[in-house]
Amino acid sequence: MRVGLERHADAEDTRVLPNIVPITQQGSPDQPPEAYLKAAESPREDRYLEFINLKKVYPTPKGPLTVVDGFELKMKKGEFISLIGHSGCGKSTVLSMTAGLNEISSGSVVLDGREIAGAGPERAVVFQAPSLMPWMTARENVSIGVDRVFPNATAAERTDIVDYYLARVGLGDSMDRLAADLSNGMKQRVGIARAFALSPKLLLLDEPFGMLDSLTRWELQEVLMDVWKRTQVTAICVTHDVDEAILLADRVVMMTNGPNATIGRIMEVDLPRPRTRKALLEHPDYYLYREQLLSFLEEYEHGANPETKSEDAPATSTTKQDEAA
Ligand SMILES: Nc1ncnc2c1ncn2[C@@H]1O[C@H](COP(=O)(O)OP(=O)(O)OP(=O)(O)O)[C@@H](O)[C@H]1O
Ligand SMILES: [Mg+2]
Repeated sequence: MRVGLERHADAEDTRVLPNIVPITQQGSPDQPPEAYLKAAESPREDRYLEFINLKKVYPTPKGPLTVVDGFELKMKKGEFISLIGHSGCGKSTVLSMTAGLNEISSGSVVLDGREIAGAGPERAVVFQAPSLMPWMTARENVSIGVDRVFPNATAAERTDIVDYYLARVGLGDSMDRLAADLSNGMKQRVGIARAFALSPKLLLLDEPFGMLDSLTRWELQEVLMDVWKRTQVTAICVTHDVDEAILLADRVVMMTNGPNATIGRIMEVDLPRPRTRKALLEHPDYYLYREQLLSFLEEYEHGANPETKSEDAPATSTTKQDEAA
């Protein structure tokens, strides 16, 4: 990990971002849904992203399967949330509906006052394996999105943006290498640079480091936090990894098991930032957070109905969904 951090430090340079506004940050005249308007008045900052009674029903040969039901969450602008839960509970389903890549069965997702309908560049997604064009260089792969999002910028300004984020993820020296020739870790760095370069309103990550070895994963977690710290983009990261969930998040949202999965508990992570894995491991509260997450996951290990009631779990900063809303 040290090697990675040092290499990353080398990537610090004097690149600055041009002062231009991407289309992803411009306001929208669209009306938000009625349920959103009816809700109590509160500043947009506190309800930057809102999940309202979100539901997903998949058709299956045995009939309709309600995977997610009654998923409700409000996020502040600039908040980082980790979404954790057992395999198959519906994390990717929630994320892909938010990305606009998966139809919402009922309920809605409202981002910055606008109901989500379909995919758009104001929501950037990073998957486990980045879908890069192998015949293009790292720089060209990031440029595709940037050209779309900054149509009024000059070519030089767009290049500055691309180079800035590639440098931030530690690829300052590899910008002109073909994607096909990059290691998996480097490809994922390109994926992260590409997502941030879109200047999205919302960053969605679905197990972004799931396919990487643990050393590379730790390195990239630090890279992600470093870039996130500079941009403060509102983000949701799906993960299976308890340590990763705590390291990254302001709040960890724990999902119950499906069918009809929903939010079981929300845990605030009140640890100082910037965080490093090392500082985290040394922090006295870290093990309490870890314990809470693990005990929640254990409760749901054997199916949808946990034997132990959630009230019996150790009480620290854990709140139930309704209390936290
Ligand atoms: N297109 C589909 N049609 C029918 N069922 C689906 C479809 N996609 C997902 N499912 C089912 O919905 C449930 C939730 O899937 P999802 O991929 O969202 O879970 P997950 O929490 O992301 O799991 P993992 O941690 O393994 O990635 C699973 O039972 C899955 O089999
Ligand atoms: Mg998934």
